[in-house]
Amino acid sequence: MSIERSALGSSQMTERILDARPSVPGTVSEGRVAGDPVRDPVDIEFIGVTKRFGEILAVDDIDFSIERGAFHSFLGPSGCGKTTSLRLIAGFEQPTAGNVLIGGNAVVGVPPHKRPVNMVFQNYALFPHLNVADNIGYGLRQRSPRPAKADIAARVDEMLELVRLPGFAKRRSWELSGGQQQRVALARALINRPTVLLLDEPLAALDRKLRREMQIELQTLQREVGITFVLVTHDQEEALSMSDSISVMRDGRIEQTGNPEGLYDAPLNRYVADFIGKSNFFAGEVVEAGQDSTFIKVNADKTLRGRNPKGAERLAAGERGVIAVRPELIHVWPLGRDAGAELDVRIAGCVKNRIFLGEHTEYLVETRGLGDILALVPKHVETSEGGFSPGDEVSIGWRNTAALSLKDA
Ligand SMILES: Nc1ncnc2c1ncn2[C@@H]1O[C@H](COP(=O)(O)OP(=O)(O)OP(=O)(O)O)[C@@H](O)[C@H]1O
Ligand SMILES: [Mg+2]
Repeated sequence: MSIERSALGSSQMTERILDARPSVPGTVSEGRVAGDPVRDPVDIEFIGVTKRFGEILAVDDIDFSIERGAFHSFLGPSGCGKTTSLRLIAGFEQPTAGNVLIGGNAVVGVPPHKRPVNMVFQNYALFPHLNVADNIGYGLRQRSPRPAKADIAARVDEMLELVRLPGFAKRRSWELSGGQQQRVALARALINRPTVLLLDEPLAALDRKLRREMQIELQTLQREVGITFVLVTHDQEEALSMSDSISVMRDGRIEQTGNPEGLYDAPLNRYVADFIGKSNFFAGEVVEAGQDSTFIKVNADKTLRGRNPKGAERLAAGERGVIAVRPELIHVWPLGRDAGAELDVRIAGCVKNRIFLGEHTEYLVETRGLGDILALVPKHVETSEGGFSPGDEVSIGWRNTAALSLKDA
């Protein structure tokens, strides 16, 4: 595995950077012929993996699998175990319990440089004494036997092309923008042809616009090279926009794994709904739990109904639950106007705050009985309605199909 460790002082730069390709000896696991790309579509698998650091339980008995060639993200707040999970895949950490498989092969105990994996660390700074081409070719030059100069140069050119930096070979790292440095770091990792690329918050240092551009480039690159990408991020927008699948983590555990739409539309509990996108939550006691929807009494005279998300455990009457409604599914109109007849819930309120966000506007509406509710009004609706100002009396509402009933956990 080659080391993309940036904060490397030159003394540390001797850290071994080796060919990322040596294969792990094939094993047969649970009846599957391991490492067979046709028969084994799973690239990375955790089986009951736990990692303790003394008293600290960083990863708590997790199971997941990532398909070959997928773009998977670990999403969660600081300290939830994202980096540790990545380091367990890379081999920088060994599990306290459980098994890690790559390409069907058990890799526990296999050192990082013998895994077909490459990791790009968050602080990706490049070797400052080397130009772009030498940075990218570093991994190849460490190989034994060392490839011919012309072969290395050809591969470096290929990589420069891939990360859209042709003509940058002779530049020094300080002559590059943040996004360009990021791309050099990626090229440096990809030249080793890993079958898995691990990315730990690779875009955290970039501004919003550059970040967006790099997200698109990373996605394109992943499709072009067809290898498995595992990204760690605490930015839900980034995870949603880039991933085929996402694992939402909390306290060392995976709360839910799914594709972006699945997680957004059918979060299994309040935590996931809160982490993926924005939601209004109305907590209370479950009064009736049906096959498809659940009624939750949220105050003395209000009971709300919400759909049961697909795959979620049914709530039980008497249990605590929460109704979640996404702000973009809430309608807002001037109080007194004859509107909203098609909505199931209608409530009067007063605009407390208006946040203009360009393509849409967020309104915080103080209601009588349901507290403050966030509503998101798209630009074209605002333009035709004229918009609202703080202090305006409004009505808001939603359809029951827009509401989800969730575990309040
Ligand atoms: N080498 C270590 N020794 C002791 N505790 C550790 C070590 N590495 C991580 N931890 C602890 O394990 C937990 C998970 O850490 P981890 O770095 O995986 O979090 P993270 O999700 O990547 O967070 P962040 O978003 O802040 O990077 C934290 O409580 C952390 O303090
Ligand atoms: Mg981390």
